[in-house]
Amino acid sequence: MDERAREGGIYTLSYISTGSKRLNRLLGGGIPAGTVTEIYGPSGSGKTQLCHQLAVNVQLPRSEGGLEGKAAYIDTEGKFRPDRIISIASAAGYRPERALENIFVARVFTGQEFEAVVKLLPGLIEDKDVKLVLVDSFSPILREAMESGGHIAKYMTSIKYLAVFRRLARYSNVVVVLTNRVVGKMGEPLGFESVGGRWVKRLVDLRLRFERADGLISAWLEFAPHTGPGEATFIIAEGGISDAEL
Ligand SMILES: Nc1ncnc2c1ncn2[C@@H]1O[C@H](COP(=O)(O)OP(=O)(O)OP(=O)(O)O)[C@@H](O)[C@H]1O
Ligand SMILES: [Mg+2]
Repeated sequence: MDERAREGGIYTLSYISTGSKRLNRLLGGGIPAGTVTEIYGPSGSGKTQLCHQLAVNVQLPRSEGGLEGKAAYIDTEGKFRPDRIISIASAAGYRPERALENIFVARVFTGQEFEAVVKLLPGLIEDKDVKLVLVDSFSPILREAMESGGHIAKYMTSIKYLAVFRRLARYSNVVVVLTNRVVGKMGEPLGFESVGGRWVKRLVDLRLRFERADGLISAWLEFAPHTGPGEATFIIAEGGISDAEL
């Protein structure tokens, strides 16, 4: 049985387009509402760029791959760039000022600030029509927990937040996307694993791994509720994410 059905959460099959038709197809339509997605991969592999693209695309009409909603962007690394939103929105034929107005950005520096912002999410979802929650990235929060209380604190932090994010996704039918950095690890088939590896992995609905080679990004869908696994490639340009001419 689908885990969400077991938990009793109600969700509909609606999606946010990633900007790439191939990646959307791999995902069964896009990033699905009602779910939590983890995207992990090395630096420069496009995780933050996809977050920017989704923050614009969530606002688009449903016929254009959006959810006609707003985005909450929790920025733990100082990587949010308004100029990227302007470029991506303009390329999508969407008013850039409106695109920016509809993204609630919270720059957080500590675990404590992160916790305070996460507590604001239910209100934003309820009152401000937020349909997408982005955490770019989850890694510093897990690292801070690890430094202060070791593996157990990191595990407890993963469980605590993933429970909150899953609840938000299920009961408010929003899209939650977390990005995660990687660490080199001997004995892993890929030679690296995401920060918080198996604990985060077990508690998300979809897991994507990004890698960049020769200007192309490869996205591996490791698991998803109704589709996958599989691979798709895309490119990042000034106007955002799109399909490469292969
Ligand atoms: N305006 C642009 N035009 C074309 N490509 C761009 C543009 N802006 C960013 N990129 C591409 O996106 C890449 C950076 O990706 P991004 O910042 O999303 O990586 P990341 O996976 O989030 O990395 P990190 O883990 O360091 O945060 C750059 O290497 C660049 O190729
Ligand atoms: Mg990034």
